[in-house]
Amino acid sequence: MIALDRNPSDLKVQQFISVDLTEPQTIDAAAKKIDGEIDVLLNIAGVPGTVDPEVVMRVNVLGLRMLTNLLIDRIRSGGSVTHVASIAGAQWAAHLDEVQRLLATPDYAAGIDWLRDHPMDSKRSYDFSKECVVVLAKQQGKWLRERGVRVNTVSPGPVQTPILKDFRDSIGPLLDLVTRETGRNATATDIARVILFLSSPTLEWLNATDVQVDGGFMSGLVGGWVKLN
Ligand SMILES: NC(=O)c1ccc[n+]([C@@H]2O[C@H](COP(=O)([O-])OP(=O)(O)OC[C@H]3O[C@@H](n4cnc5c(N)ncnc54)[C@H](O)[C@@H]3O)[C@@H](O)[C@H]2O)c1
Repeated sequence: MIALDRNPSDLKVQQFISVDLTEPQTIDAAAKKIDGEIDVLLNIAGVPGTVDPEVVMRVNVLGLRMLTNLLIDRIRSGGSVTHVASIAGAQWAAHLDEVQRLLATPDYAAGIDWLRDHPMDSKRSYDFSKECVVVLAKQQGKWLRERGVRVNTVSPGPVQTPILKDFRDSIGPLLDLVTRETGRNATATDIARVILFLSSPTLEWLNATDVQVDGGFMSGLVGGWVKLN
């Protein structure tokens, strides 16, 4: 197992590679340090909507996309990619035009140019970033037919991690409503189990799908057992 992160990690891994997803040259350098074939790529790193909107998009979308594109040829047939999105990206269909325009940019630098022409605030940039991640996986779903590699997204609701406070600051009372209506926040283990499941080579036909891991909150809005006030 190889871990990549901006910050040093105490994870027990074979190799740790330092990368800053806001800096494309470090992504390029990090990809070159990975040897051999890859079974599973998990894109988990992300920053909340309390930081600079361009940083949000650099880390959550442009860096994720660049790293995945650099590694895709190395993922073996039967392998998989899972990106961590969020239920904050659940409105991707309502914003599909805007999302597709950002995703049509050919590379990191062009993505930055597009963002500078289409400024948004930090809160919107987080939601937009996760909408982009969900749609990106739907686009990358062609890799199953072309090279035998599945790509899916996991969209958690609130998870008890160090950045939950930032999410509360940017999302506001809606976050507490999700917690109240579902009974608790997710643990990191709740989400990791689903990522592990999606990564199983036995799931040969699950592809280009977003799996919401939110205690049923989003479905409860449709089912009528979740109340917004
Ligand atoms: N915590 C939640 O409530 C919640 C809800 C939905 C989705 N998510 C998503 O889950 C993912 C993991 O978040 P988390 O809650 O575990 O937060 P976290 O802060 O614990 O983990 C985020 C990781 O991303 C890394 N990172 C940040 N900026 C980076 C950069 N520039 N380059 C490389 N790595 C960088 C951090 O060092 C950290 O290890 C994120 O994509 C987040 O958007 C979290």
